[in-house]
Amino acid sequence: MLYEQIQEAVAYLRTKTQLQPHTGIILGTGLGNLTDEIQVETEIPYQDIPHFPVSTVQSHKGKLVFGHLGKTPVVVMAGRFHYYEGYTMQQITFPVRVMKFLGIQQLFISNAAGGTNPHIHAGDLVFVRDHINKHPDNPLRGPNDERLGPRFPDMSQAYDRELIARALTLAKKHGIRAHQGVYVALPGPNLETPAEYEFLHRIGGDMVGMSTVPEVLVARHMDIRLFVVSVITNQCYPLEHIKETSVEDVINVAASAEPKMSLIMKELLAAVPGSGV
Ligand code: HPA
Repeated sequence: MLYEQIQEAVAYLRTKTQLQPHTGIILGTGLGNLTDEIQVETEIPYQDIPHFPVSTVQSHKGKLVFGHLGKTPVVVMAGRFHYYEGYTMQQITFPVRVMKFLGIQQLFISNAAGGTNPHIHAGDLVFVRDHINKHPDNPLRGPNDERLGPRFPDMSQAYDRELIARALTLAKKHGIRAHQGVYVALPGPNLETPAEYEFLHRIGGDMVGMSTVPEVLVARHMDIRLFVVSVITNQCYPLEHIKETSVEDVINVAASAEPKMSLIMKELLAAVPGSGV
């Protein structure tokens, strides 16, 4: 069923473009401008693609963009789906399945997140090296289709270490404040209470957000190499840093840090062997 739906979506997309993407990219809240730097070949609204959910949230555009970023053929999700919008985990992660069958080798993801490490400030980039999943559901729950991946996918190295090391080197070269860290995924949509930020810090979280981990689980299920960057939009630890935060604040800080994130993604892509096909 899921497998057939994926094939239908891929077959539709193949009627629109012959581009063979090497890398998939998912852009987070306030972080969509990287699409402006893509030499676009085709843009396809989500609503036209069979079985794709349709995005509702402010600041999310809702289209699949095919083109080249530098020399690399890419497919970009401009606008992603969140659990708090009411989608199922299968819906949220369906586009990742489709990207795999379009041929991607690796997936780059960005997100906006709150910082729960005292050394990580608003505007910093954090390359995700691990995660703690606090979503109440899992996209891999239910019957497993072995054509997609194994029943019990390993998560001991979900985030590619070589990509993180290269990204840290690039950030240093450009004087960009960057770290590696642990992302805690909560379902939202409310932001956290001070007691919750304290808890997230104590369990080993460096940042917290409401996305990404569902896509990561499905990408690892299908053996896709991953690079994830969080843009810290609000520092929440130590607790005296907590300020009232609106979605506009998150979008504004994300947008001002966005060029740093785009630069790292572009240069990382250019440096990865095999991506300049
Ligand atoms: N909590 C959860 N998600 C977020 C935050 C936060 O503080 N900031 C940006 N996304």
